[in-house]
Amino acid sequence: MFLMPSYDGIKNNFRLANANEEEEEEKVLKKVAPYMGEYRKYTVWAAILMTLGIVANVLPYFFLYQIISPLTRGEQIDASYILVRVIAVAVCEILFSILYVQGLTFSHIGAYNTLKNLRISLKAKLEKQPLGNIQELGTGRIKKVFTDDIDQIELLLAHAIPEGIANILIPIIIIVLMFITSWRLGLLSLVPLVVGMFAMGMMMKSGMEKMNDYYESAARMNNTIIEYVNGMEVVKVFNKDGDSYKRFGDVVRSYRDFTLDWYKVCWPWMAIYTSVLPCLVLLMLPFGSMMVLGGTIALDKMILVFCMSFAVGPSVLKALNFAGKFPQLDYKITELEKMMDHPPIKEGTAAFKGNSLDVEFKDVHFGYEDKEVIHGVDLSFKQGTTTALVGESGSGKSTLAKLLVHYYDLNSGSITIGGQDITDMSLEALNDQVAFVSQEQFLFNTSLYENILIGKPGATRAEVLEAAQRAQCNEFLERLPDGIETQAGDGGKQLSGGERQRISLARAILKNAPIIVLDEATAFMDPENEEKMNAALDEIIKDKTVLVIAHRLSTIMNADKICVMKEGKCIAADTHDRLLESCPEYKKLWDASVSASTWKIKEV
Ligand SMILES: Nc1ncnc2c1ncn2[C@@H]1O[C@H](COP(=O)(O)OP(=O)(O)OP(=O)(O)O)[C@@H](O)[C@H]1O
Ligand SMILES: [Mg+2]
Repeated sequence: MFLMPSYDGIKNNFRLANANEEEEEEKVLKKVAPYMGEYRKYTVWAAILMTLGIVANVLPYFFLYQIISPLTRGEQIDASYILVRVIAVAVCEILFSILYVQGLTFSHIGAYNTLKNLRISLKAKLEKQPLGNIQELGTGRIKKVFTDDIDQIELLLAHAIPEGIANILIPIIIIVLMFITSWRLGLLSLVPLVVGMFAMGMMMKSGMEKMNDYYESAARMNNTIIEYVNGMEVVKVFNKDGDSYKRFGDVVRSYRDFTLDWYKVCWPWMAIYTSVLPCLVLLMLPFGSMMVLGGTIALDKMILVFCMSFAVGPSVLKALNFAGKFPQLDYKITELEKMMDHPPIKEGTAAFKGNSLDVEFKDVHFGYEDKEVIHGVDLSFKQGTTTALVGESGSGKSTLAKLLVHYYDLNSGSITIGGQDITDMSLEALNDQVAFVSQEQFLFNTSLYENILIGKPGATRAEVLEAAQRAQCNEFLERLPDGIETQAGDGGKQLSGGERQRISLARAILKNAPIIVLDEATAFMDPENEEKMNAALDEIIKDKTVLVIAHRLSTIMNADKICVMKEGKCIAADTHDRLLESCPEYKKLWDASVSASTWKIKEV
């Protein structure tokens, strides 16, 4: 029987060639050990039981030998002698099954609990991450880590460790036994192993340079596919025969070409080791028979060795395959940790103890990665006033809003509420003070009612309904089949952009925080709805401290203060009338906004 290794298995072995195998295993175990916790004993027991199982699996060869041996010498044996050995073989087989199954059970208990620990620990790390970073990672990628990547570790933990150990032990025990039985045949048994290993080594050597290209080409293909799928809507509408299709085709073709190229180099060696390793039997038969004829070995011993040689090759192939999983396990865990490895957000533990709700940005510097996008913003606004942020797209308005709700830590400077630094207070304390309605709204796939309830989990039904009404939701809720009990769909897909925004607004209304941050809260609205919404907003923001961002300047011209942002700086902050006179940038924005609102589609 030939056991073909999987393509993945072969690639793993390539990785393995980069590192010393034992070192690799030790490294991986060290990395996994903290997550195994008290369940480590299950994995240890799994390995012990499986090893005992292997012993039970090898023992029948001896009983077989004890039966065959006297027969080959023509000696008389009675039925009870045979029966005892047959029963012993049966007991061994049953024992093997029990031990193996019990070993697998233990290894799975160990594995699934390790995964549970891994997930809980990653969740804890994720919770400490800046919220902004979590948004950037994207739900798709986070889901992949929490489900797919961690699940792959299950396969490695539940099978690779215990079964790997067992499959390494089988050939070692058998070869030792062969040497004890006949050192000549023992030596012979090493021949396919040496040839197989040599072929594998040659394959690795000749394929190694191409391996890095392979990983690059695979990564390129993954990235392009993800980009393509994410941008499917745009591609379908705008770019049907254009670049994206071509790029998609190119990377897929280049991946195919590389893989085939790589195979061409490797397949002769692969063919040698996959066929040589399991065919020890073919060597044993002619050589063993000649030795029997030449009188160097007794027939019974030759038969024993011959039987045992069946088990060597498949186990070696399996063990190599499993050994190759260790670097993969190491790689996965490192990747997982790296992903969650952003420094945790500087979250304080204090309650809110500001002496007012005055907000002050002091010399705030911030960059998403290395590039700074906010360059020393000073801005303050008083309790109970409305402040607007205006400026060209990309000038840093949303970023400032996110900094106030502590989505990210600042590079330098400070943001205080009533004199208390926001990094001093716990996120809960800050959240109690500030409600944020952002440009991108997320709804959970539960009922709209529950989506609003998130704003204030203990709220009564009447309060929720009132919030929905004040956010102008009633008009579309009445149209929905189940009204406010309608499911929002995955990420709120069932609703239009404007409807989603109104639900989020209802959430913020219910929360009733004293400071409200509105980032383009009416961006998706048609003029009629926008009017209604603005009326609602006016009522909501009464007596509150408000920071509002809007492109249509007409909506914020009455704000107490308007801060004009340009390239990450606040270049002026004053009232509408005064800015019109003193700030040419504001005048330009205002003129553009006025002309945009009077745009008409030219009649033909
Ligand atoms: N998640 C992010 N990662 C990296 N850079 C970002 C990220 N979000 C925004 N930026 C960059 O920061 C700068 C400010 O962006 P911001 O979203 O604050 O602008 P904005 O004034 O709100 O624009 P708009 O009016 O279009 O909403 C831009 O140059 C943008 O490219
Ligand atoms: Mg913005």
